[in-house]
Amino acid sequence: MKICRTIADCRAEVASYRAAGERVGLVPTMGFLHEGHMALVTAAQEDCDRVVVTIFVNPTQFGEAADLEAYPRDEDRDFAMLRTAGVDCVLVPPVEEVYPQGDETIVETTRMANMLHGLVRPGHFRGVTTVVARLFNFVQPDVACFGEKDYQQLKIVRRMTRDLAFPIEVRGVPTVREADGLAMSSRNVRLGPEDRAAARVLCDALDHAESWAATPRTVEGLRATITDVIKGQPRATLKGLDIVEAETLDEITGPLTSPAAIMLSAEFGGILLIDQRVVFP
Ligand code: PAF
Repeated sequence: MKICRTIADCRAEVASYRAAGERVGLVPTMGFLHEGHMALVTAAQEDCDRVVVTIFVNPTQFGEAADLEAYPRDEDRDFAMLRTAGVDCVLVPPVEEVYPQGDETIVETTRMANMLHGLVRPGHFRGVTTVVARLFNFVQPDVACFGEKDYQQLKIVRRMTRDLAFPIEVRGVPTVREADGLAMSSRNVRLGPEDRAAARVLCDALDHAESWAATPRTVEGLRATITDVIKGQPRATLKGLDIVEAETLDEITGPLTSPAAIMLSAEFGGILLIDQRVVFP
């Protein structure tokens, strides 16, 4: 596995794949890898001859310096996991190359970035699209894989890719879950044992919503079902519950007439966790 510490190194490596006519997949990450990331790697490997993973804890998508500082890092473990998975190349770019001195260029999906989770974390999605556009440009892959768990992020990256005409197929990969249903996240390790046990309520609430059989299924009914399940878990503080049109992320009300995305977030002992599900009428 080739480890590149500069963009130039990575470009040279990818050029050698291209020269051999190989198809290249990209998995952008912020490191501290878990099974969810490895599912992205597997998805990229299914589609491509070569897989490049980037590890970059992107400062522009963190609201507070403290969050950036607290973000877990373990490069050696990440490399070992990627090597075992048969990844071809890892790019760990220095911050000065991703954001050169005097940098003043941003990429933003102006509507989608400033709704839903974007309202709770101002500037977050602008940071994501700004770095993803740069990573796309560094690696120039054929395919890039993103988790469906970060549903709004996936939709935003798709919109940016279309708007800027990047010749890249953005692939959404289903969420990988712990045995009890909790969506994998690098934040899970920060939960104490009681909060970790309680956190399964997120998935339980979505299961309830999905299997809820009333006719017609309404947005208000879904909302009430989910809220009741979350409120039944005293360790959970419901932070966000958005039920939106699955493609546009527009708010919907009344009977479901098209697929709806449920975006759920709750805090457990101060740790914010998210989960999502697309449900059908
Ligand atoms: O989902 C993530 O880990 C990050 O938002 C991403 C896409 C790697 C951009 O920094």
